[in-house]
Amino acid sequence: MTVGSPGMLLTLLLVLGGRILAGLETPLADSYRAAVYEHNVSFPRHRDVVPRLEALQLMEENLGKFDEQARQAAQQKAKIIVFPEYGVYGLGWTRQKLAPFLEYIPDPAGNPWNPCDNPNGFVSAVQTLLSCIAKNNSIYVVANIGSQQPCISTDKSCPSDHVYQFNTNVVYDPRGIFIARYFKYNLDSVEMQYFDRPPVVNHTIFDTPFGRFATVCSNDILYKEPTLTLVKTMNITNLAMPAAWKEELPLMSAIEFHSAFAEGLLINVLAANLHVVDLGYYGSGLYWPTGTSINASYFYDDDPYSEGSLVVETLTPSIIPSDVWDPPQFTENKRFAPRRLVNNAEQSSLTHKIKINGDIYTAKVFKFGEAYSANVCQGSLCCDADFEGGASGDMFAFGAFEGMHSGNNSYYLQSCALIKCAGRTVESCGQPTKHTSTGIDKMSMSGNFSYPYQFPEVFTVGDHPEIVTQIWYYQGSVIIDVGLYGDLLTVAIQAIDYSRQ
Ligand SMILES: *[C@@H]1O[C@H](CO)[C@@H](O)[C@H](O)[C@H]1NC(C)=O
Ligand SMILES: *[C@@H]1O[C@H](CO)[C@@H](O)[C@H](O)[C@H]1NC(C)=O
Ligand SMILES: *[C@@H]1O[C@H](CO)[C@@H](O)[C@H](O)[C@H]1NC(C)=O
Ligand SMILES: *[C@@H]1O[C@H](CO)[C@@H](O)[C@H](O)[C@H]1NC(C)=O
Ligand SMILES: *[C@@H]1O[C@H](CO)[C@@H](O)[C@H](O)[C@H]1NC(C)=O
Ligand SMILES: *[C@@H]1O[C@H](CO)[C@@H](O)[C@H](O)[C@H]1NC(C)=O
Ligand SMILES: *[C@@H]1O[C@H](CO)[C@@H](O)[C@H](O)[C@H]1NC(C)=O
Repeated sequence: MTVGSPGMLLTLLLVLGGRILAGLETPLADSYRAAVYEHNVSFPRHRDVVPRLEALQLMEENLGKFDEQARQAAQQKAKIIVFPEYGVYGLGWTRQKLAPFLEYIPDPAGNPWNPCDNPNGFVSAVQTLLSCIAKNNSIYVVANIGSQQPCISTDKSCPSDHVYQFNTNVVYDPRGIFIARYFKYNLDSVEMQYFDRPPVVNHTIFDTPFGRFATVCSNDILYKEPTLTLVKTMNITNLAMPAAWKEELPLMSAIEFHSAFAEGLLINVLAANLHVVDLGYYGSGLYWPTGTSINASYFYDDDPYSEGSLVVETLTPSIIPSDVWDPPQFTENKRFAPRRLVNNAEQSSLTHKIKINGDIYTAKVFKFGEAYSANVCQGSLCCDADFEGGASGDMFAFGAFEGMHSGNNSYYLQSCALIKCAGRTVESCGQPTKHTSTGIDKMSMSGNFSYPYQFPEVFTVGDHPEIVTQIWYYQGSVIIDVGLYGDLLTVAIQAIDYSRQ
């Protein structure tokens, strides 16, 4: 089990950070304790259309575990807890099989409703249990359930059975009052077989004494609507994200990308994932930017016999709100000159086509010596990297990609990535691996990105794979000046163009 804690970094970075921040008078927002629960969801025992009572029994089994975790989170003084997407009934549905698990969920605006106190009117057992979990433990609860919303045929998107089935996030305040509802907007191709895309996107925010939150579901963060609009125009500083996020190394592992997203947009991210290791779902955490770097507390365990886990941590909100942050200018002298190149052959113009997370990168491939310096371009993007460390002989690829990301989610991506290859052959580069023995002492990476939103990630292996916290991140460049904790798997900057989707 890995519960990550911030690395041992590092006086130099903190000093630099202090200087960068000096002069900005932005007051520090209040810190608060938050929890996410990575849940080993109980699936239905068989896959027929079941009666409502049987559906409810399964959901009560999962919600019983939620209640226990909410109690533990509250005992540890958490003010909010987030549960995963698909956390009450599991994965793998058809429209008909899912129906008994769904409830009508009213609009919380206008008519305050406390299901725990007033569980009447319509089928609402799941909503009642969630509301009671919030009330009994005096904690904000963010959960993901399924809803069934009647529609009329004059509504052009209304399905032929006259009900929408929406993948829905619900939020209850510590009194149990239902305060927010979000219908997931960016469904993947599998979900579209049993859930509908809402006809209009909703931007769901809720205010708490400890800050303004928005809620979205996993792959929503790859799209402008609703996520970027929420962050950029609605003053949110916290994102509560129920997720069902599949591990996709090298670059899109849950903890790796969710932490990069928090750092890139300078918001706190509370991401709760499923713990279904044999299907590839795991990795949950709390991520908060510290201005020039990320801080995180997370759970990441790929042992198929492992249990889920609760993560509780105090989030120190970003010192620099995203709308105020005026990035300091990049100064050349912060870069370092590598001692010497391993050999000239590796600086040659020879490039390979390497497939990373479905995209074909233009890459240079090399065995790690003591120092390395490389430049690689694709389209209008050029990436530079310099680094020094212990000679390991591990094979690495350093690549650039620009274009439409291919996969279940489509978005325009520019990416500079240094990845450890799975083996010692060029063909192995881009295949997932968690093994490396390459320590890096110094490094800088940069790219001349034209896409405005950049997500820096650094993923290493200590006792387990882990996020590096408190790296120095700066205007499209990642610079690590002092010894990086653990051995290196990935350093990357991914940039998304949200305006072209
Ligand atoms: C979005 O949600 C709010 C609150 O639930 C509701 O009042 C509003 O009508 C919704 N808007 C849309 C476009 O669905
Ligand atoms: C909430 O507390 C009440 C009273 O102690 C108890 O009857 C109920 O079962 C609890 N509900 C949940 C969901 O924990
Ligand atoms: C966001 O904050 C700005 C400045 O305080 C304010 O003018 C604006 O109305 C706020 N927007 C929303 C959606 O709350
Ligand atoms: C990072 O998190 C740790 C643990 O909560 C905390 O001790 C440290 O002060 C945090 N650093 C910053 C810069 O927020
Ligand atoms: C996960 O949940 C399933 C279903 O409840 C159970 O069979 C399995 O033993 C659980 N796994 C672990 C590691 O506890
Ligand atoms: C990035 O640098 C390369 C090489 O100097 C140049 O050809 C390209 O136009 C630059 N791209 C952008 C977006 O400035
Ligand atoms: C798309 O999703 C399906 C189902 O989860 C998965 O089997 C497939 O590998 C994914 N495709 C890509 C390119 O990621």
